[in-house]
Amino acid sequence: MNLKGRNFLKMKDFSAEEIEYLIDLSAELKEKKKKGVLHDELRGKNIALIFEKTSTRTRCSFEVAAHDLGMGTTYLDPSGSQIGKKESIADTARVLGRMYEGIEYRGFGQDIVEELAEYAGVPVWNGLTNESHPTQMIADMLTVKEKLGKLKGVKFVYMGDARYNMGNSLMVTAAKLGMDFVACTSKKYFPDEELVAYARAEAEKSGGSVELTESVEQGCKDADVIYTDVWVSMGEPDEVWEERIKELKPYQVNRQALELAKDSVIFMHCLPAFHDLDTKIGKEIHEKFGLDEMEVTDEVFEGPHSVVFDEAENRMHSIKAVMYATLK
Ligand code: CP
Ligand code: NVA
Repeated sequence: MNLKGRNFLKMKDFSAEEIEYLIDLSAELKEKKKKGVLHDELRGKNIALIFEKTSTRTRCSFEVAAHDLGMGTTYLDPSGSQIGKKESIADTARVLGRMYEGIEYRGFGQDIVEELAEYAGVPVWNGLTNESHPTQMIADMLTVKEKLGKLKGVKFVYMGDARYNMGNSLMVTAAKLGMDFVACTSKKYFPDEELVAYARAEAEKSGGSVELTESVEQGCKDADVIYTDVWVSMGEPDEVWEERIKELKPYQVNRQALELAKDSVIFMHCLPAFHDLDTKIGKEIHEKFGLDEMEVTDEVFEGPHSVVFDEAENRMHSIKAVMYATLK
């Protein structure tokens, strides 16, 4: 498998074999890290990290992974560069491409990261756009494989806003890998029809399936994985909270949802999560709407089925694999 020079922009661009290769490479690099085996094979290279939206996991993963691989990093924060204000994406790409061996971009439209890749001349990695979150996919599938021992045939249920980056990317990835993907949410939050058709065609090839349902009973029945994400994503206006709460509350991951699933079900979340009142937004929502927890209850988040921190750790190993595969 040779992915050298490739961009990592969205899951649609990768075959099942390529995705599986990246998952296995992540596991290999994880083992090396755990055993203390040095793997600084990309010494002398440098990468730029552009963040037009905030981040904890993705930024830290890129920085630690780059350091472990022997690379230098430059972090450009949401206000600390000329991008979009004084300089176009195409010009930025051509400047950074002269100085760095790879560029990470987190921001808004998918078209921005695609344009960056078109002009950069070096691999560009998507660290999250409104439409997709591909590095999260490798970490998530590595986590499923570690916990359940397989990917094919796994019933993977996504609850919440399935139209956004996480729902889109999980549906496409699961379909390619032969999983039985279910978007369990209100109709309004079903993924885009064209993308569903694409995922169904992929599922046909892999032996997987893609189902959309408004019924929690049907969706969560015998689930192997129940996954959720925040109801309001970065960059969305505060005004949407009220309707999201109303429309997505029935799809909160709680004890009842878990009871419908297999005993071995795992709960996953890309994080950050609103599961208690220990955040500023959590408190504001509580004051305005009276909710103590949102997309997942604290009981489930802290409970024995939750694998969210293993999943978060895997972001680092998998981002390392993506950089290694595209640069080595
Ligand atoms: N899951 C994820 O992308 O987290 P951050 O927003 O903290 O990077
Ligand atoms: N859907 C979320 C994912 C965060 C990792 C967002 O875009 O804010």
